[in-house]
Amino acid sequence: MAKDFLQIEGVSRAELELLLDDASKNLPIAEQKVARKESLAGRVVANMFFEDSTRTRCSFETAVHRLGGEVFNLTESGSSTRKGESLVDTALNVEAMGVSAIVVRTSVSGGAALVAKRVRCPVINAGDGRHEHPTQGLLDLLTLREALGRLDGRVIAIVGDIANSRVARSAIHALTTFAARVRLVGPPTLVSEAYRHITTRPDLVSIHHDLDAILHDLDAIMMLRIQNERAAGGSVAGDYREMYGLTPARAAQLPGHAIVLHPGPVNRGVEIDDTVADDLPRSRILRQVTQGVAARMAVLERVLSQAGTTATVAA
Ligand code: CP
Repeated sequence: MAKDFLQIEGVSRAELELLLDDASKNLPIAEQKVARKESLAGRVVANMFFEDSTRTRCSFETAVHRLGGEVFNLTESGSSTRKGESLVDTALNVEAMGVSAIVVRTSVSGGAALVAKRVRCPVINAGDGRHEHPTQGLLDLLTLREALGRLDGRVIAIVGDIANSRVARSAIHALTTFAARVRLVGPPTLVSEAYRHITTRPDLVSIHHDLDAILHDLDAIMMLRIQNERAAGGSVAGDYREMYGLTPARAAQLPGHAIVLHPGPVNRGVEIDDTVADDLPRSRILRQVTQGVAARMAVLERVLSQAGTTATVAA
């Protein structure tokens, strides 16, 4: 595995399977069913989050704690980026404090890779613009594997704002690496033929604008939020819920075993209705969050086990 964890694209199935297996082993620790590990004892991880986050930031923080390490958070508000300091300069200064790894979220597509090129410690991409959200891709695979077993040949729909979604990009790479069949669904302004070709397996990806027509043979459906912060809302005509929302009537068209995913944050009553989001065990939305801690533990352990970085916490 590379020094950093920046994207799912290009990561082999074997490497992903190792990470998934490690994450599954870490799940009881993430769930606090067993005591924490000490694999990151003496390590400090910097969480640099220059875009808002609840799940990713808190689960990286929890993951570090569950591995016995220490973590600090830096957000744009209150940091010197407000005075004009660049992302890379900020990261170089954070590294100079002796941290063992940097977790980066940024609105800049490719921003995490820019940081990784300049610092010596491992960098984990916690979501960069419209590019990728690789730990989300891992936790999605974990949740699907737990529910469905094998992924080969499974049919999984990703519905909504594909154009602006780093979650969708990571999921497309992850799912096609495991030979799942991916149906991308949404309005033509947000879902076009071009998105089939972000993967080396376009034969596994199909484009759809009619959600009702594809519900009957799905093994899973992943609903996405319209990303108004990336100006997506203005390009969606008409009543979104009516055409693409996962309503109880649509959920009833899914096969009995099919599960519902959503990366969060959820806009209830827009892309998914309350009764569907809260319908356990079909809805795995909160299970994804728990799996996210286990996935991030696995990634942290992997990058730090390879890194020659030294402990920086005073004994
Ligand atoms: N899924 C996800 O990235 O959520 P946050 O933006 O809350 O981290």
